Amino acid sequence: MNFVDIIEKKKNRLELSEEEINYWIEEYCKDNIPDYQVSALLMAITINGMSDLETFYLTKAMTNSGDTLDFEGIEGIKVDKHSTGGVGDKTSIALMPILATCGVKVAKMSGRGLGYCGGTVDKLESIPGMNVFLSKEDLTKQVNEIGIAMMGQTSNLCPADKKIYALRDVTSTVGSNPLIVSSIMSKKLACNDDVIVLDVKYGSGAFMPTVEDATKLAESMISIGKYFGKNICACISSMEEVLGRAVGNALEVKEAIDTLHGKGPEDFTELVLESGSLLLSQAGLYSKEEALKKMKENIDNGKAAELLKTMIRYQGGDERVVDDTSLLPEAEYITEIRAERDGYIVKMPASMIGLMSMELGAGRVNKDDIIDPSVGIVLNKKVGSYVKKGEVIAFIHHNRELSEAFMEKAHKMAKIQDEKVNPVELIEKIVY
Ligand code: URA
Repeated sequence: MNFVDIIEKKKNRLELSEEEINYWIEEYCKDNIPDYQVSALLMAITINGMSDLETFYLTKAMTNSGDTLDFEGIEGIKVDKHSTGGVGDKTSIALMPILATCGVKVAKMSGRGLGYCGGTVDKLESIPGMNVFLSKEDLTKQVNEIGIAMMGQTSNLCPADKKIYALRDVTSTVGSNPLIVSSIMSKKLACNDDVIVLDVKYGSGAFMPTVEDATKLAESMISIGKYFGKNICACISSMEEVLGRAVGNALEVKEAIDTLHGKGPEDFTELVLESGSLLLSQAGLYSKEEALKKMKENIDNGKAAELLKTMIRYQGGDERVVDDTSLLPEAEYITEIRAERDGYIVKMPASMIGLMSMELGAGRVNKDDIIDPSVGIVLNKKVGSYVKKGEVIAFIHHNRELSEAFMEKAHKMAKIQDEKVNPVELIEKIVY
């Protein structure tokens, strides 16, 4: 097979065969096709798209490019929730322990953050001592004993995605639907869970700018999941503003713990309960109403927080953080950002706050950057709030001196006006 012919075919909008796609993925993983040729193909795909069948073949080839987990030794219904990425998205840390107290099994593999979207693994690592590298045997044993384990992706999970994603990042081909679908779904399918709920984000802090774009992406991921026989659905949720109030690794863990104690921010608690009850009803264990009741019950009776504690202990971390969040890393300084006038907050773009938090050291610009777990931003007000001049809008947690340019941005992060606006609707719809 000649790779130039494959590029040529896609350039001319022709459908690639399964053999051609397998050849691309297998040979690229063996370093037999150079990056510049794969870059050309990625650009042709970005411009001309892929059919559902091509996307299915690509997802399958990427899934099979490395290890797949069979979870053979794990009894019960295995579930996963996947977010397409957002600012302040600590959902998994609060949601997964609640789900595991409701009778499903959680063997969750999460990614690290790149850019302003934080990764669950980085957040978990802000818990002192927490080990996010588990062997397959330890993972299986832990899930069988306590119902839950949360860890990083093994190094050989979908190696094709690792190589292709790195190339997409530098060739302006990240925003292509079939490439996003195959990238996300190959990793989900390699983990072999029974039930998957996707949280597809739209808005200023997400890949997808509009509800329509997010819905299209969700439909494509669902259709690929169904091709593989998965029980899968998606909620479409807003990333116009930060989810909850905290952005930054330890700050987000604290907020997830507060939520497990029933004291989380309203919007974040809503997303946890809605996506969780959707997942439990998809799993066929409860109706949506029963699932909601059960989840709330296990928050109120302390079972969910207790399970997070047990999971942290099993993974070598300091479980006391669940009862005393001051044991999490804390920044040396907290600077308050105050409102410059009276009025309603009409905008606080998630992307801007994500970028500012990254600048403080909470995120990575390059994949080898070391992050500071203690820094970030905690919002004291959300979109729709009325503020008086001088009231605190946000707290900046930092270890380095804040530059003038940073402070200028911080003072502009909330747009305040006289007219009232309605807060952003968090969950737009569910797609099956
Ligand atoms: N997350 C992924 O893992 N891959 C993408 O392409 C986009 C988001």
